[in-house]
Amino acid sequence: MNLPQQLEHYRSQINQALNTHLPKPLSFPLFDAMHYCTFNGGKRFRPLLVYFTGQALGLNIEKLNPIACALEFIHTFSLVHDDLPAMDNANLRRGRPTCHKQYDEATAILVGDALSILAFEVIASSPSLTGDNKALLLQQLAQASGDKGMVKGQVLDLHATHHTLSIEALTELHQLKTGQLLKASVCMPASLATLTATDQQHLTEFAQQLGLAYQVQDDLLDIEGETSTLGKDAGIDKANHKQTFPCIVGIQLAKNLLQDLQTRALTNLSSLSFNTEDLQTFVHSIFKRDH
Ligand code: IPE
Ligand code: IPE
Ligand code: MG
Ligand code: MG
Ligand code: MG
Repeated sequence: MNLPQQLEHYRSQINQALNTHLPKPLSFPLFDAMHYCTFNGGKRFRPLLVYFTGQALGLNIEKLNPIACALEFIHTFSLVHDDLPAMDNANLRRGRPTCHKQYDEATAILVGDALSILAFEVIASSPSLTGDNKALLLQQLAQASGDKGMVKGQVLDLHATHHTLSIEALTELHQLKTGQLLKASVCMPASLATLTATDQQHLTEFAQQLGLAYQVQDDLLDIEGETSTLGKDAGIDKANHKQTFPCIVGIQLAKNLLQDLQTRALTNLSSLSFNTEDLQTFVHSIFKRDH
Protein backbone atom coordinates (compact mmCIF):
# COMPACT_ATOMS: atom_id res chain seq x y z
CA MET A 1 0.00 0.00 0.00
CA ASN A 2 1.22 3.53 -0.75
CA LEU A 3 0.82 6.38 1.76
CA PRO A 4 -2.63 7.65 0.63
CA GLN A 5 -3.98 4.08 0.73
CA GLN A 6 -2.48 3.49 4.17
CA LEU A 7 -3.89 6.78 5.45
CA GLU A 8 -7.32 5.88 4.18
CA HIS A 9 -7.11 2.41 5.66
CA TYR A 10 -6.02 3.64 9.10
CA ARG A 11 -8.46 6.57 9.11
CA SER A 12 -11.35 4.25 8.41
CA GLN A 13 -10.02 1.93 11.15
CA ILE A 14 -9.93 4.74 13.73
CA ASN A 15 -13.30 6.20 12.70
CA GLN A 16 -14.94 2.82 13.04
CA ALA A 17 -13.31 2.22 16.43
CA LEU A 18 -14.24 5.69 17.75
CA ASN A 19 -17.82 5.20 16.62
CA THR A 20 -18.04 1.88 18.43
CA HIS A 21 -17.00 3.49 21.70
CA LEU A 22 -19.13 6.63 21.52
CA PRO A 23 -22.65 6.48 22.86
CA LYS A 24 -25.28 6.54 20.08
CA PRO A 25 -26.24 10.08 19.01
CA LEU A 26 -29.88 11.22 19.08
CA SER A 27 -30.57 9.21 22.22
CA PHE A 28 -29.41 11.97 24.62
CA PRO A 29 -28.39 15.62 23.99
CA LEU A 30 -24.79 15.24 25.22
CA PHE A 31 -24.23 12.25 22.91
CA ASP A 32 -25.00 14.33 19.82
CA ALA A 33 -22.41 16.87 20.88
CA MET A 34 -19.81 14.14 21.56
CA HIS A 35 -20.31 12.89 17.99
CA TYR A 36 -20.25 16.41 16.56
CA CYS A 37 -16.86 17.09 18.13
CA THR A 38 -15.32 13.71 17.30
CA PHE A 39 -16.50 13.36 13.68
CA ASN A 40 -15.69 16.73 12.18
CA GLY A 41 -12.70 16.29 9.91
CA GLY A 42 -9.80 16.01 12.35
CA LYS A 43 -6.56 14.84 10.77
CA ARG A 44 -6.28 11.93 13.25
CA PHE A 45 -2.50 12.38 13.52
CA ARG A 46 -2.28 10.85 16.99
CA PRO A 47 -4.12 7.64 16.03
CA LEU A 48 -2.14 7.48 12.77
CA LEU A 49 1.07 7.79 14.71
CA VAL A 50 -0.06 4.95 16.98
CA TYR A 51 -0.80 2.73 13.95
CA PHE A 52 2.38 3.54 12.02
CA THR A 53 4.55 3.10 15.13
CA GLY A 54 2.74 -0.11 16.06
CA GLN A 55 3.10 -1.45 12.51
CA ALA A 56 6.86 -0.78 12.56
CA LEU A 57 7.06 -2.66 15.87
CA GLY A 58 5.00 -5.58 14.58
CA LEU A 59 2.15 -5.04 17.04
CA ASN A 60 -1.35 -6.41 16.55
CA ILE A 61 -3.99 -3.87 15.39
CA GLU A 62 -6.36 -5.06 18.12
CA LYS A 63 -3.92 -3.79 20.73
CA LEU A 64 -3.40 -0.53 18.88
CA ASN A 65 -7.08 0.40 18.47
CA PRO A 66 -7.78 1.17 22.15
CA ILE A 67 -4.59 3.28 22.38
CA ALA A 68 -5.48 5.19 19.20
CA CYS A 69 -9.07 5.82 20.38
CA ALA A 70 -8.05 6.89 23.86
CA LEU A 71 -5.54 9.44 22.54
CA GLU A 72 -8.00 10.86 20.00
CA PHE A 73 -10.67 11.20 22.71
CA ILE A 74 -8.26 13.04 25.00
CA HIS A 75 -7.09 15.23 22.11
CA THR A 76 -10.69 16.06 21.12
CA PHE A 77 -11.57 16.90 24.72
CA SER A 78 -8.52 19.18 24.90
CA LEU A 79 -9.66 21.04 21.75
CA VAL A 80 -13.24 21.47 22.98
CA HIS A 81 -12.01 23.01 26.23
CA ASP A 82 -9.20 24.95 24.50
CA ASP A 83 -11.83 26.72 22.36
CA LEU A 84 -14.00 27.83 25.30
CA PRO A 85 -14.41 31.57 25.96
CA ALA A 86 -12.39 31.24 29.18
CA MET A 87 -9.47 29.82 27.19
CA ASP A 88 -8.88 30.70 23.50
CA ASN A 89 -12.42 31.89 22.77
CA ALA A 90 -12.46 30.35 19.28
CA ASN A 91 -15.40 30.26 16.88
CA LEU A 92 -14.22 27.71 14.39
CA ARG A 93 -12.78 24.21 14.76
CA ARG A 94 -12.10 21.78 11.94
CA GLY A 95 -14.11 24.04 9.63
CA ARG A 96 -17.26 24.08 11.75
CA PRO A 97 -18.56 26.11 14.69
CA THR A 98 -16.79 25.18 17.93
CA CYS A 99 -18.73 23.03 20.38
CA HIS A 100 -19.81 25.91 22.61
CA LYS A 101 -21.00 27.88 19.54
CA GLN A 102 -22.94 24.97 18.08
CA TYR A 103 -24.39 23.96 21.46
CA ASP A 104 -23.54 26.00 24.57
CA GLU A 105 -20.72 26.38 27.09
CA ALA A 106 -22.10 23.94 29.62
CA THR A 107 -22.41 21.29 26.91
CA ALA A 108 -18.82 21.92 25.77
CA ILE A 109 -17.52 21.53 29.32
CA LEU A 110 -19.46 18.30 29.77
CA VAL A 111 -18.42 16.91 26.35
CA GLY A 112 -14.81 17.41 27.42
CA ASP A 113 -15.46 15.73 30.76
CA ALA A 114 -17.19 12.77 29.12
CA LEU A 115 -14.57 12.27 26.38
CA SER A 116 -11.67 12.44 28.80
CA ILE A 117 -13.19 9.78 31.01
CA LEU A 118 -14.25 7.63 28.05
CA ALA A 119 -10.59 7.55 26.95
CA PHE A 120 -9.66 5.69 30.14
CA GLU A 121 -12.66 3.36 29.88
CA VAL A 122 -11.67 2.33 26.33
CA ILE A 123 -8.31 1.05 27.52
CA ALA A 124 -9.57 -0.39 30.79
CA SER A 125 -12.32 -2.40 29.07
CA SER A 126 -10.33 -3.62 26.05
CA PRO A 127 -10.52 -7.41 25.60
CA SER A 128 -7.26 -7.34 23.59
CA LEU A 129 -4.98 -5.97 26.30
CA THR A 130 -3.67 -7.90 29.29
CA GLY A 131 -4.06 -6.53 32.82
CA ASP A 132 -0.37 -5.59 32.79
CA ASN A 133 -0.75 -3.82 29.43
CA LYS A 134 -3.70 -1.83 30.79
CA ALA A 135 -1.94 -0.74 33.97
CA LEU A 136 1.05 0.48 31.96
CA LEU A 137 -1.02 2.26 29.30
CA LEU A 138 -3.43 3.92 31.73
CA GLN A 139 -0.57 5.35 33.73
CA GLN A 140 1.09 6.74 30.60
CA LEU A 141 -2.20 8.20 29.38
CA ALA A 142 -2.82 9.90 32.72
CA GLN A 143 0.69 11.34 32.84
CA ALA A 144 0.53 12.67 29.28
CA SER A 145 -2.95 14.18 29.68
CA GLY A 146 -3.32 15.55 33.18
CA ASP A 147 -1.64 17.88 35.63
CA LYS A 148 1.81 16.59 34.63
CA GLY A 149 1.13 16.81 30.88
CA MET A 150 -1.34 18.52 28.54
CA VAL A 151 -3.40 20.20 31.28
CA LYS A 152 -0.27 21.63 32.89
CA GLY A 153 0.82 22.99 29.50
CA GLN A 154 -2.56 24.63 29.00
CA VAL A 155 -2.24 26.33 32.40
CA LEU A 156 1.23 27.65 31.48
CA ASP A 157 -0.18 28.81 28.13
CA LEU A 158 -2.97 30.78 29.81
CA HIS A 159 -0.64 32.34 32.37
CA ALA A 160 1.92 33.42 29.78
CA THR A 161 -0.24 35.82 27.81
CA HIS A 162 1.04 39.07 29.26
CA HIS A 163 4.76 38.51 29.74
CA THR A 164 7.54 37.29 27.46
CA LEU A 165 8.79 33.77 28.07
CA SER A 166 12.35 32.55 27.56
CA ILE A 167 12.88 29.99 24.77
CA GLU A 168 13.38 27.35 27.48
CA ALA A 169 10.08 28.18 29.19
CA LEU A 170 8.17 28.22 25.89
CA THR A 171 9.76 24.91 24.90
CA GLU A 172 8.53 23.37 28.14
CA LEU A 173 5.04 24.83 27.64
CA HIS A 174 4.80 23.42 24.09
CA GLN A 175 6.23 20.06 25.10
CA LEU A 176 3.54 19.80 27.73
CA LYS A 177 0.43 21.17 26.03
CA THR A 178 0.99 19.42 22.70
CA GLY A 179 4.18 17.36 22.87
CA GLN A 180 3.04 14.99 25.59
CA LEU A 181 0.08 13.53 23.68
CA LEU A 182 2.13 13.15 20.51
CA LYS A 183 4.96 11.55 22.45
CA ALA A 184 2.45 9.18 24.05
CA SER A 185 1.20 8.25 20.56
CA VAL A 186 4.64 6.73 19.95
CA CYS A 187 5.62 5.63 23.46
CA MET A 188 2.33 3.95 24.45
CA PRO A 189 2.46 1.42 21.58
CA ALA A 190 6.24 1.09 22.07
CA SER A 191 5.69 0.13 25.71
CA LEU A 192 3.94 -3.05 24.48
CA ALA A 193 7.00 -4.12 22.44
CA THR A 194 10.45 -5.29 23.49
CA LEU A 195 13.07 -2.76 22.49
CA THR A 196 16.81 -2.45 23.00
CA ALA A 197 17.92 0.46 25.17
CA THR A 198 19.38 2.20 22.11
CA ASP A 199 16.17 1.84 20.09
CA GLN A 200 14.18 3.01 23.11
CA GLN A 201 16.29 6.15 23.31
CA HIS A 202 16.06 6.97 19.58
CA LEU A 203 12.30 6.41 19.57
CA THR A 204 11.75 8.59 22.66
CA GLU A 205 13.90 11.40 21.25
CA PHE A 206 12.07 11.16 17.92
CA ALA A 207 8.70 11.41 19.71
CA GLN A 208 9.81 14.42 21.77
CA GLN A 209 11.17 16.29 18.75
CA LEU A 210 8.07 15.51 16.71
CA GLY A 211 5.80 16.72 19.52
CA LEU A 212 7.57 20.06 19.89
CA ALA A 213 7.84 20.51 16.11
CA TYR A 214 4.09 19.94 15.78
CA GLN A 215 3.25 22.94 17.97
CA VAL A 216 5.92 25.20 16.41
CA GLN A 217 4.35 24.35 13.05
CA ASP A 218 0.87 25.11 14.47
CA ASP A 219 2.14 28.52 15.65
CA LEU A 220 3.55 29.31 12.20
CA LEU A 221 0.36 28.16 10.47
CA ASP A 222 -1.63 30.48 12.73
CA ILE A 223 0.35 33.39 11.23
CA GLU A 224 0.83 32.25 7.64
CA GLY A 225 -2.24 30.05 7.05
CA GLU A 226 -5.74 31.00 5.93
CA THR A 227 -8.83 30.39 8.05
CA SER A 228 -10.44 28.48 5.16
CA THR A 229 -7.49 26.04 4.93
CA LEU A 230 -6.85 25.77 8.66
CA GLY A 231 -10.50 25.20 9.55
CA LYS A 232 -9.86 27.38 12.61
CA ASP A 233 -9.51 31.13 13.17
CA ALA A 234 -6.15 32.24 11.68
CA GLY A 235 -4.34 34.93 13.68
CA ILE A 236 -6.02 33.99 16.95
CA ASP A 237 -2.67 33.64 18.80
CA LYS A 238 -1.78 37.29 18.27
CA ALA A 239 -5.31 38.40 19.12
CA ASN A 240 -5.05 36.44 22.38
CA HIS A 241 -1.50 37.71 23.15
CA LYS A 242 -0.16 34.14 23.10
CA GLN A 243 3.49 33.32 23.56
CA THR A 244 4.60 31.39 20.48
CA PHE A 245 7.95 30.71 18.82
CA PRO A 246 7.40 33.15 15.93
CA CYS A 247 6.30 35.76 18.45
CA ILE A 248 9.40 35.50 20.64
CA VAL A 249 12.16 34.69 18.11
CA GLY A 250 10.61 35.92 14.83
CA ILE A 251 9.21 33.96 11.90
CA GLN A 252 12.51 33.11 10.22
CA LEU A 253 14.22 31.81 13.36
CA ALA A 254 11.10 29.83 14.26
CA LYS A 255 11.24 28.23 10.80
CA ASN A 256 14.94 27.41 11.24
CA LEU A 257 14.23 25.88 14.62
CA LEU A 258 11.39 23.83 13.14
CA GLN A 259 13.61 22.59 10.34
CA ASP A 260 16.28 21.59 12.83
CA LEU A 261 13.78 19.70 15.02
CA GLN A 262 12.35 17.89 12.00
CA THR A 263 15.80 16.87 10.77
CA ARG A 264 16.77 15.58 14.19
CA ALA A 265 13.48 13.67 14.50
CA LEU A 266 14.03 11.96 11.14
CA THR A 267 17.64 11.14 12.01
CA ASN A 268 16.48 9.41 15.17
CA LEU A 269 13.89 7.46 13.17
CA SER A 270 16.39 6.29 10.60
CA SER A 271 18.79 5.21 13.38
CA LEU A 272 16.33 2.58 14.64
CA SER A 273 17.33 -1.05 14.09
CA PHE A 274 13.92 -2.08 12.68
CA ASN A 275 12.14 -1.06 9.45
CA THR A 276 10.60 2.40 9.80
CA GLU A 277 10.14 3.17 6.11
CA ASP A 278 6.34 3.65 6.26
CA LEU A 279 6.56 5.58 9.53
CA GLN A 280 9.17 7.88 7.95
CA THR A 281 6.97 8.51 4.90
CA PHE A 282 4.06 9.34 7.21
CA VAL A 283 6.19 11.69 9.33
CA HIS A 284 7.37 13.50 6.19
CA SER A 285 3.72 14.10 5.33
CA ILE A 286 3.09 15.60 8.79
CA PHE A 287 5.99 17.98 8.26
CA LYS A 288 4.49 19.16 4.96
CA ARG A 289 1.01 19.80 6.39
CA ASP A 290 -0.82 23.04 5.60
CA HIS A 291 -3.47 22.73 8.33
C1 IPE B 1 -4.46 21.02 17.00
O1 IPE B 1 -4.12 19.69 16.76
C2 IPE B 1 -3.99 21.44 18.33
C3 IPE B 1 -2.58 21.24 18.58
C4 IPE B 1 -2.19 20.53 19.56
C5 IPE B 1 -1.59 21.88 17.74
P1 IPE B 1 -4.30 19.06 15.30
O2 IPE B 1 -3.66 19.97 14.29
O3 IPE B 1 -3.78 17.67 15.31
O4 IPE B 1 -5.87 19.13 15.13
P2 IPE B 1 -6.92 18.17 14.40
O5 IPE B 1 -7.11 17.00 15.31
O6 IPE B 1 -6.40 17.77 13.07
O7 IPE B 1 -8.14 19.03 14.32
C1 IPE C 1 -3.38 23.57 21.48
O1 IPE C 1 -2.74 24.77 21.31
C2 IPE C 1 -3.09 22.91 22.70
C3 IPE C 1 -4.08 21.98 23.21
C4 IPE C 1 -3.76 21.23 24.18
C5 IPE C 1 -5.45 21.90 22.71
P1 IPE C 1 -3.51 25.83 20.44
O2 IPE C 1 -4.48 26.59 21.24
O3 IPE C 1 -2.53 26.58 19.63
O4 IPE C 1 -4.33 24.85 19.44
P2 IPE C 1 -5.30 25.37 18.31
O5 IPE C 1 -4.48 26.25 17.40
O6 IPE C 1 -6.43 26.06 18.97
O7 IPE C 1 -5.72 24.09 17.59
MG1 MG D 1 -4.75 27.17 23.20
MG1 MG E 1 -6.47 27.20 20.62
MG1 MG F 1 -2.72 27.09 17.60
